[in-house]
Amino acid sequence: MAGNTNLAYRRLCRKFGAELTTTEMVSSKALQFGDRKSLLLLEKGPEEQPVAAQVFGVEPQVLARAARIVEERGFHAVDLNMGCPVPKITGGGGGSALLRHPELAAECVAAMAGAVGIPVTVKIRAGWDEENRNAPELARRLEDAGAQAITVHGRTREQKYSGRADYELIGRVVEAVDIPVIGNGDVTDLQSARELLASGVAGLAIGRGALGRPWLFGQIRALLDGAPIPDEPSLAERGALLMELGEGVCELYGERCGMRIMRRLSADFFRETPGSAALRAVCHKLESLSGLRALVESGSLGEA
Ligand SMILES: Cc1cc2nc3c(=O)[nH]c(=O)nc-3n(C[C@H](O)[C@H](O)[C@H](O)COP(=O)(O)O)c2cc1C
Repeated sequence: MAGNTNLAYRRLCRKFGAELTTTEMVSSKALQFGDRKSLLLLEKGPEEQPVAAQVFGVEPQVLARAARIVEERGFHAVDLNMGCPVPKITGGGGGSALLRHPELAAECVAAMAGAVGIPVTVKIRAGWDEENRNAPELARRLEDAGAQAITVHGRTREQKYSGRADYELIGRVVEAVDIPVIGNGDVTDLQSARELLASGVAGLAIGRGALGRPWLFGQIRALLDGAPIPDEPSLAERGALLMELGEGVCELYGERCGMRIMRRLSADFFRETPGSAALRAVCHKLESLSGLRALVESGSLGEA
């Protein structure tokens, strides 16, 4: 997830049981120019086994070169984004705009699959809009082009993040293809995880539900294993996780840039705690790692 799933955040998710992690989406065009910021998004950790890098773009040969860079960097899979609804991306024909051009979408996948030995996977949405919910047909086409797994966010591009993800449609994608389908959208707890798993998907992709709550992966893992569900961490434990995240993000990006990212990431840790509005306001003003440490050690988390 752009702006969120940096290496430090993925480390926390992995620690709690996420089995496959994916980078933020990276521009295929910027990668071929060796753009420093884009390459930074391709940092990965030794414990990330397996880890995928996600790219976006619309030119098959540019995507093929980006896939090679991803492979050279040691990633285990390269994922093509066909889900992003943001006009900055769709305006250039990338992200969810590819849903409207199945032939080009298939060419992109075929070019990538022909360029690398690692699996090429794709992230799609239900379709462009209500009249064009073409995920099952598109998925079949992408499978024929060489995709080895497909993640489906059960909303259309038109919906962006409104309404509910359509698990029934995701189930139809499962029936349409022979490759693994990973279901995505609105998994926030054990109940929603159960509902999406009932559609027959091979796995769950969890986005917003795990922001500030990386332990959700451990709870769902336990659900799948039939093991006792771990408790939600205490505020003190959340504070320790937050410090670990802050240190990791600042190590990656430097303190100035890192703390800009941490303002948002840290506020996510206090979405549901009592007094969270005040805590979140403090998070949004954080300037330094020592400020974050002072907040964590001040006891104000406990008072909240
Ligand atoms: C801030 C933000 C950034 C996102 N960035 C990406 C991205 O880089 N790549 C991607 O495939 N999806 C991205 N998404 C979409 C999510 O991966 C996911 O498909 C969507 O939020 C629905 O799943 P959820 O209900 O589990 O969050 C992003 C979503 C948000 C809110």
